[in-house]
Amino acid sequence: MNFTNSSSLAFDDALAQALAFAAPARAWLVPLLGCSESDALRLYSAADAVRAAYQGTDVQLRGLIEFSSICRKNCAYCGLRVENRGAERYRLTPEEIVATAHRAESLGYKTVVLQSGEDLWFTTERLAAIIREIKATTDLAITLSAGERDRDAYAFWREAGADRYLLRIETTDPALFAALHADSNLDARKQCLYDLRDLGYQLGTGVMVGLPGQRPDTLAGDVIWMHELGAEMIGVGPFIPHPDTPLKDAASGTVEQTLRLVAVLRLVFPHAHLPATTAMGSLHPLGRERALQAGANVVMPNVTPGDVRPKYAIYPGKICLTDDAEHCRGCITGRIHAIGRTVAADHGHVKRVADQETGA
Ligand code: 5AD
Ligand code: SF4
Ligand code: FES
Repeated sequence: MNFTNSSSLAFDDALAQALAFAAPARAWLVPLLGCSESDALRLYSAADAVRAAYQGTDVQLRGLIEFSSICRKNCAYCGLRVENRGAERYRLTPEEIVATAHRAESLGYKTVVLQSGEDLWFTTERLAAIIREIKATTDLAITLSAGERDRDAYAFWREAGADRYLLRIETTDPALFAALHADSNLDARKQCLYDLRDLGYQLGTGVMVGLPGQRPDTLAGDVIWMHELGAEMIGVGPFIPHPDTPLKDAASGTVEQTLRLVAVLRLVFPHAHLPATTAMGSLHPLGRERALQAGANVVMPNVTPGDVRPKYAIYPGKICLTDDAEHCRGCITGRIHAIGRTVAADHGHVKRVADQETGA
C-alpha cells in the first residue's frame, strides 16, 4: 500500500466499504463520488462486476411515450417550464397514446413509460381510462411519469393497472431544491414518493448531476436519502443548460461526473433498475453505452410519434429527435449487442426483498 498518496488510500478504503455492502455513509460515498479519473476506472469496473452478478447481461428496454409537453410547473432548468413561452406545446389524444403503446408492443417492448409535463387536461379519470385501455389490449407493463399529483390520483391510477411510477427528487439539498423550484417544495415532493411507495408502485426516482452549486457531498446526501426511501429504479443524468431558462449560462454536468454516480448507485443498490439515460447519450455519442458499462441495466428508447418529438425539448441537443420508433429500436439493439450485452425478454419487474432473498 502506498501511504504517501492519501487520496488514493481514501479511495481504496471507500471502495472496500462499498464492496462490503456497508450502509451508505458520507464517509465513503464522498471519496467515490469525487474520485480522480484513474480511480474512476476502477470504480466503474467494480460497479460493472456487481451489475453482472446481480442483473446478468440483460438490458431492460422501456419504450418512452412523451404524451404531453404542456406543464404547469416552472422548474428553473427545464425547457418545458410554463414561463418558456417560446416552447412549442403538444398533447397526444388518448387514442394516439393507446395507438403508440400498441406500436411499442409490436416493436417488442414489454414496458411503456407514459411521461409528460404536469398537464392537468389529463385528469385522474382521463389518464386512468388510458391505462385501463392499454392494460386491456396489451401485455405491457406501464410506468407513469406525470409529476406531482395527489395521493388519490396515484391510488386511482394504480388501481387502473399502472405498475411503476417515476418521480425524480432532482436534489435533496433543501436550499438547492428551493432555488430550482420556486413553485414546489422538497417536502411535498418527498411526500409524493412516500405515497407512491405506500400504494405499491415499483418506485423510481433520481437526480440531475452537475446542478449549479452541487458537490459530491450533495450527491452523497441524495444517495443516502434514496436508500432510506427504498428506491427501486433510479435515473440519473447530467444537467444540460437550456438557452430559454434562467440557468442558460450555468455550466453543464458531465458524463464523467454522472458515471461516478451511476457506479456508486450500483454498489449501493445492487438489485435496482438503473437506466443509461437519454441525457447521457445526448452529451456523448457513447454516453449510454458507458453508463451500461458502469452499472446501468436499463435503456428507455423513444417511441413518441416523430412529428411531435422535437417539441419535448427539456434540454438542447437531445438525441433521436428526427428518428422514428422503429429506427431507435434497431439502433439500441445494435448498441447493446456491440458491448456484449443482451436484450431482456421479460417484463423486468422490480424484485422485492422477499424475492431477492429467495433468489426468485
Ligand atoms: N438537463 C437535464 N435533465 C433535465 N431534466 C429537466 N430539465 C433538464 C435539463 N435541462 C430532467 C429532470 C426531469 C426529467 C424528466 O428530465 O430530471 O425529472
Ligand atoms: Fe414541468 Fe417536469 Fe419540466 Fe419541471 S421538469 S418544468 S415538472 S416538465
Ligand atoms: Fe434513437 Fe439511436 S436510440 S437513434
